[in-house]
Amino acid sequence: MNLIEARDLTKVYHRGSEEVHALKGVTLSVKTGEFLSIVGPSGSGKTGLLNILGLLDNPSGGTVKVHGSDVTHLKEKQRVVVRRDTIGFVFQQFFLIPTMTARENLELPLLFSRKKPDPKKTESILEMLGLAHRGDHLPYQLSGGEMQRVAIGRALMNDPQIILADEPTGNLDSASSEKIYDLFRDLRDKGLTLIVVTHNSELAKRADRVITIRDGILTDEEHQVCCPCA
Ligand SMILES: Nc1ncnc2c1ncn2[C@@H]1O[C@H](COP(=O)(O)OP(=O)(O)OP(=O)(O)O)[C@@H](O)[C@H]1O
Ligand SMILES: [Mg+2]
Repeated sequence: MNLIEARDLTKVYHRGSEEVHALKGVTLSVKTGEFLSIVGPSGSGKTGLLNILGLLDNPSGGTVKVHGSDVTHLKEKQRVVVRRDTIGFVFQQFFLIPTMTARENLELPLLFSRKKPDPKKTESILEMLGLAHRGDHLPYQLSGGEMQRVAIGRALMNDPQIILADEPTGNLDSASSEKIYDLFRDLRDKGLTLIVVTHNSELAKRADRVITIRDGILTDEEHQVCCPCA
């Protein structure tokens, strides 16, 4: 079953009188439970594509379906609900609130979805992240890898079906990056779907499938291991 189906996506940005054709017809399906890597040179359209798949931005043309229903033309209010209930975002910059502890940062999304924190759930996520002993720490007391793990935990708080990550290890050393990918693989094994943009082709290979985007077009596709639901 495809969780996301994107068809003929185009994206044109307007910079003054100049038109930037960032995506030039991208068609892509992502299966439920699949871990997909997107690689490609700087400026090739990776972030633009991820933002469209995550309903943070609209394509100029083409469609995005989530669970078979077209979300391209939903009103912003409905898009917010799909985004909040289905998708967790992870970015290169961790975007933690510096004055809040790891635990409080984790629970932040609950404020927006008006859910009450469940201390047991928060502790079990901290444990899964290997941060059980770090719950009371402020971001500046954490390493980069630990901060990114808190950000991943925060993305998991609303029980998303899919994690979209844009260069999540871009600011991390290789050992911390490996740990983040270990965590992604654990989440995949638990049934989550992941789409992760990276510049690092070695890390990319740890996904089930790697796709390459160049100049707004998908250029090749490489299957690593067989996805359990393929
Ligand atoms: N808001 C915008 N206005 C104008 N042009 C934009 C805008 N956002 C992106 N672009 C252009 O679209 C193209 C694709 O950008 P995108 O950010 O998707 O690339 P990327 O593959 O994520 O690059 P990087 O690896 O450097 O993050 C680039 O040429 C970029 O300059
Ligand atoms: Mg980018």
